[in-house]
Amino acid sequence: LSVIIMALARVVLFSLVGAVACFQDLDFPPGFQFGAASSSYQTEGAWNTSDKSESIWDRFVHEKPHLIGDGSTGDIACDSYHLWRRDIEMVSELGLHFYRFSISWTRLVPNGFATHISEDGRTYYDNLINGLLESGVEPMVTLYHWELPQKLQDLGGWTNPLIVDWFGDYARVVYSLFGDRVKTFLTINEPLVMCDLPYNTGTLAPGIVDVVATYMCNKNVLLAHAKAWRIYDEEFRPKYHGEVSITNQLLWFEAATPEDEELAEHAREWMAGRYSHAIFSAEGGWPPVVEKAMAEDSKKKGYPRSTLPAFTKEEIEFVRGTFDFYAVNHYSSRLVRKAKEGEELHPYPLGDIPELAAKLEPHPHWRPTATAIFWLYPEGLHHQLVWLKKRYGDIRFVITENGVATPAGRNDMDRIEYYTEYLKQVLLAIKEGVNVTGYTAWCLMDNFEWSDGYKTKMGLYEVDFSSPERTRTQKASARFYKNLIQKHSLNF
Ligand code: NOJ
Repeated sequence: LSVIIMALARVVLFSLVGAVACFQDLDFPPGFQFGAASSSYQTEGAWNTSDKSESIWDRFVHEKPHLIGDGSTGDIACDSYHLWRRDIEMVSELGLHFYRFSISWTRLVPNGFATHISEDGRTYYDNLINGLLESGVEPMVTLYHWELPQKLQDLGGWTNPLIVDWFGDYARVVYSLFGDRVKTFLTINEPLVMCDLPYNTGTLAPGIVDVVATYMCNKNVLLAHAKAWRIYDEEFRPKYHGEVSITNQLLWFEAATPEDEELAEHAREWMAGRYSHAIFSAEGGWPPVVEKAMAEDSKKKGYPRSTLPAFTKEEIEFVRGTFDFYAVNHYSSRLVRKAKEGEELHPYPLGDIPELAAKLEPHPHWRPTATAIFWLYPEGLHHQLVWLKKRYGDIRFVITENGVATPAGRNDMDRIEYYTEYLKQVLLAIKEGVNVTGYTAWCLMDNFEWSDGYKTKMGLYEVDFSSPERTRTQKASARFYKNLIQKHSLNF
């Protein structure tokens, strides 16, 4: 009998130890910070209030409603321009450590050039920032979330090298007005989605299809980011002690078979590397495999030079090392495999270089989500973080966006599952030594989801777009997120 009792006791003891260890694994490290995000065009509305000027998104939705899923606009959106007090109430309700929002260039500096600051724009962002701080929530500010002043677009926008100075001047205005209170700035949101997608497909503003322009935009964005980082570093960091980075959209590319690994690695360099290598790698400049492939492809096509514009030695040095941490936006993954003979190729993002030609698709086991192009593969986030560390070194990472679309309604159990599973992968990466210090849920509330309009619901809060009050109501995921933040753990 005593042998049986001893054996039972051991089983109970081991299960208890196992359970405790398992619980501990779901705790976040001390100091890990949680936030939620939004962007100005997607939420503010008031598109032509006061002296605000027209942005490329204002122009795009008004001229091309057929390119927006429900034909809608961000003219009113969530009306956060008027309802900022309620927004602050929501982030306090959730107990967020920080709130990521963007500044609208055309609201703050309506003529595009930093020769005039709008009093109205300044007051709006002052109120928001002060209100957040009074509620104990840190503001995290994106300088550019895709709303270029139309006036600058008319001068070539992101394809004109002068944009480096225009953006630098605008950044200086933002730092000097708000840098005493804002300690984290993101210069540019998802350059890949503002250069590659618009110029490849015309489905996002400015809606110009010109593949060569993609790479001009690509290079100018890197230089403009570097300029803005350097302005902060030299003129503002000594007195404000804040941090600046750029935020990249990263789909994880998984090799379908071990033989496809080289192709998958090429795809990662193509997508992540083109917007990271110049800033985060020790050597700077374009990722060598991409630079080589593009030079060869351009030669074959008889172009006088590579469509990927070269960096000068000075430019490489100017951009290299211009970061304080790596900001990751991650939503989903793709499987990469060699295309079979005669098979139609995926046109984006690898299709225009034959050497990279591949099929990109989801794994049959990944579950679809309510966003047609996103599949559920939480492990992808872990693999992405590990890859970034391997590629760019032991730097600090902040997840600046992660989230999913769910069917309309407040019982958004899919979103809870998504956050739980992706956060478990963040914890795994941390356990393996990747220095991730923050996580941002996209997004605080349902909003104008670019070419999907209002059909796509990604918020922790539901917004009633049929009411002039734009009433915001918590979803189940908001209560989940609040608990998670309070417990600092997925174990509750
Ligand atoms: C990333 C973008 O930054 C954001 O504006 C967008 O709403 C989300 N992706 C979801 O698609």
